[in-house]
Amino acid sequence: MPSRDSKSGPTAVGTAVLPEDRGARPPVLGFRDVSKLYLPGGSSVTALRRVSLDVRAGEFVALVGRSGSGKSTFLNLAGAVDTPSSGQVLLEGRSTEGLNDEELTFLRRERVGFVFQFFHLFPTLSALENVEIPLQLAGRRRTRRRAAEMLALVGIPDLADRLPHQLSGGQLQRVAIARALGSEPALVLADEPMGNLDTHTAEEVMALFRLINLQLGTTIVMATHSLESAAATDRILTLRDGELVSDVRAGAAGRAT
Ligand SMILES: Nc1ncnc2c1ncn2[C@@H]1O[C@H](COP(=O)(O)OP(=O)(O)O)[C@@H](O)[C@H]1O
Ligand SMILES: [Mg+2]
Repeated sequence: MPSRDSKSGPTAVGTAVLPEDRGARPPVLGFRDVSKLYLPGGSSVTALRRVSLDVRAGEFVALVGRSGSGKSTFLNLAGAVDTPSSGQVLLEGRSTEGLNDEELTFLRRERVGFVFQFFHLFPTLSALENVEIPLQLAGRRRTRRRAAEMLALVGIPDLADRLPHQLSGGQLQRVAIARALGSEPALVLADEPMGNLDTHTAEEVMALFRLINLQLGTTIVMATHSLESAAATDRILTLRDGELVSDVRAGAAGRAT
């Protein structure tokens, strides 16, 4: 694992995400005038309205906005699990438009990692197997070893054999994060990953995302209702009724802890 100031204090942590530095890195995710319309029962809902932005390698971005503002829609489009009604989504510089099934499967399985509010683990598989399965599906070698390394990375090396029902919420989310990171994705998309955790556990899981972002340089876009969590990222995007109404630098570089 490449270490980047992993043991350093807040000052060094802050330096790793200064805007000058950030601007030089290639965009991992691009939205170009992206709109998404749903047509439930004939009436149309505009879930996203002409959103344009770039997320650069190494950025930790929070996506905030009330329920129904378009956060999950944004993440689904970013992860190429859904397609825009108009506009373009670029992943690692490439438009997802016109990709064939094989290319889309590769993107979803290997270039993007998803973390959900309700974990989405297989209930009959152990923690280790849950992390290993996508690696096997991707045709990787030494999947068991890689899965064990990922569980160690998220701080639960000793829970490999547990089934999901034998794990706490925080532990379940750690397994899900380990699974999302297994293929070394260019982008991790997290949809309210602390939404089902108590305050203390939520803080721990948020700290883990931050650590992963800083240590591995993983690009993260996280939908969250917690302003505290959002403030601990690099950048806050606010959606309102599907529109991107603000895009600001967050307090991570200057925060106290
Ligand atoms: N599959 C769908 N069919 C119809 N409407 C949808 C669908 N998914 C989301 N919407 C609508 O799109 C809007 C944005 O939803 P969503 O992206 O889930 O917001 P958020 O994650 O911020 O709560 C809402 O009005 C929601 O009802
Ligand atoms: Mg949502």
